[in-house]
Amino acid sequence: MTETEPTLTNVVIRAALPPDAADIARVHVEAWRAAYVGIVPQAVLDRLSIDRRQQFWANRLTDPGESRTFVAICDGRIAGFAGTGRPSDPEHPEGTAELETIYLLPEAWRIGVGRLLIRRSTGDLAERGFSSAILWVLTENERGRRFYEAVGWQGDGRVQMLDFDGTPVEEMGYRLDFRGGSTGPG
Ligand SMILES: CC(C)(COP(=O)(O)OP(=O)(O)OC[C@H]1O[C@@H](n2cnc3c(N)ncnc32)[C@H](O)[C@@H]1OP(=O)(O)O)[C@@H](O)C(=O)NCCC(=O)NCCS
Repeated sequence: MTETEPTLTNVVIRAALPPDAADIARVHVEAWRAAYVGIVPQAVLDRLSIDRRQQFWANRLTDPGESRTFVAICDGRIAGFAGTGRPSDPEHPEGTAELETIYLLPEAWRIGVGRLLIRRSTGDLAERGFSSAILWVLTENERGRRFYEAVGWQGDGRVQMLDFDGTPVEEMGYRLDFRGGSTGPG
């Protein structure tokens, strides 16, 4: 490894607070623009607004309800976040949560920060009595799918279509059971 490559030497995971909304919004937009090129129409990526995302996150962090959001602080600044809540689809049994979001700045990819964030999120869900969690991932998001599979999630056969400006984009369901308190490997 060269001296300029990022490392995991200084990473802190903590619960997100309302003043984090602007940083989370910036991570959200930068991650979308880097991860979804060629998957989500470019016009949709170009229109993403940090201000609108900031408003969303300010509201969510001020009035979280059952949602929980964690941030990853790398070398003193927010480099990623993950959020959980109740599944939007009411067909899931009681005890099922949803990993709604996990995004990192591109420069923080593939150094283990995502693993720390998702472990914190699923650990929190297990501690709060949830027995399993589901998520949706764009089928063409190979990076995301490899990541989820590496940390113990499995495709559960659910498929749904999203509509981005009239372009249909498929997403797949994944699931993790917290058997015996396990929230996934490593
Ligand atoms: C998906 C994401 C959160 C993963 O976080 P990350 O910090 O990059 O992942 P980690 O470094 O913790 O990787 C953990 C394991 O996942 C697997 N993995 C992660 N990225 C991978 C990739 N690009 N290709 C193959 N396997 C990968 C590996 O097994 C890795 O372990 P290893 O590095 O020891 O081999 C991050 O890449 C990201 O923000 N991507 C863009 C946004 C996104 O797609 N979010 C998911 C939306 S549903």
